[in-house]
Amino acid sequence: MADIELDAGVDPAFRDDVLAGLATRPRAIPARWFYDLRGSELFEEITELPEYYPTRVERSILAGNAGALGDAIGPDRAVVEFGSGSSAKTPLLLEAIDPAAYVPIDISGDFLRESAEALSADFPGLLVHPVEADFTHPVPLPGSIAGMPKLGFFPGSTIGNFNPPSAVDFLRAMKETLGTGAMLLIGMDRVKGEDVLVPAYDDAAGVTAAFNLNLLERINRELAGNIPVDAFRHRAIWDDMLARIEMHIEARRDVTFSVAGQRFEMAEGETIHTENSHKYGKRDARILLRAGGWTMVREWTDDADQFALILAEAQPERSAP
Ligand code: AVI
Repeated sequence: MADIELDAGVDPAFRDDVLAGLATRPRAIPARWFYDLRGSELFEEITELPEYYPTRVERSILAGNAGALGDAIGPDRAVVEFGSGSSAKTPLLLEAIDPAAYVPIDISGDFLRESAEALSADFPGLLVHPVEADFTHPVPLPGSIAGMPKLGFFPGSTIGNFNPPSAVDFLRAMKETLGTGAMLLIGMDRVKGEDVLVPAYDDAAGVTAAFNLNLLERINRELAGNIPVDAFRHRAIWDDMLARIEMHIEARRDVTFSVAGQRFEMAEGETIHTENSHKYGKRDARILLRAGGWTMVREWTDDADQFALILAEAQPERSAP
């Protein structure tokens, strides 16, 4: 079947990733395509679910250690937040460390400007300079913060959504963006029992299932798809060898559908792999950071050691053993 014209405004990279991902084995579509408007709303709902502890626990670590964070980081830094989104946890950090500037970096310009304006109103003396960019690559920072020491901020354990080699590349890119003498405050989710991890990604109310299956709805909406969404189910699986939760969309029966004019067949039980969420033990986290050019300085965790907020400093480049 021939390719069909897509509506203006549909990202051609979305079409390319979906068509390539459905054609490869095992089938896989990158998790970044979850976040259309509906997907972002569903993600916000996930963060409030009783089973999904990471957001709640990370926020409590930030709120409960304001004094220690302030002492370890010091005032007058420029805080550079990678993938700031709604900047939901940022006020807790800004209050704790009294920085000179705040630079949120995000790929979604409208959302970025809106949340930067709201934050500016709450922190009147703070220089706020949003930057619209793909933060996974080195980003030139505004000249207005050139002379200031930097603190990178990457909360939420989003580092876990990268495969380890890409996580290392990304940590290196952050180091290049921030420059020498920079610090990084990063959230990482700990390895823990399947009894806690699986429900966090397969909640009783079915919100994570709706988030995962919304990817199929998005494909139907934007890529002229006719996928029968009710022929699929959400799966969340803990892979202990790879220390990660995998999310999949599994066919409940043999199914045939088309996307952007191309036909696909899936057999009952076949899956589309949609997300990885890696979890890091105490020492795993340190080694990952070292591989990415950062040395851990301090870490804060909750009482149950579910989640870690780690402060690291940029390693000077040296090759000697
Ligand atoms: C954005 N990221 C850190 C979430 C996670 O926990 O890996 C995405 C998510 N997927 C399902 N639930 C939450």
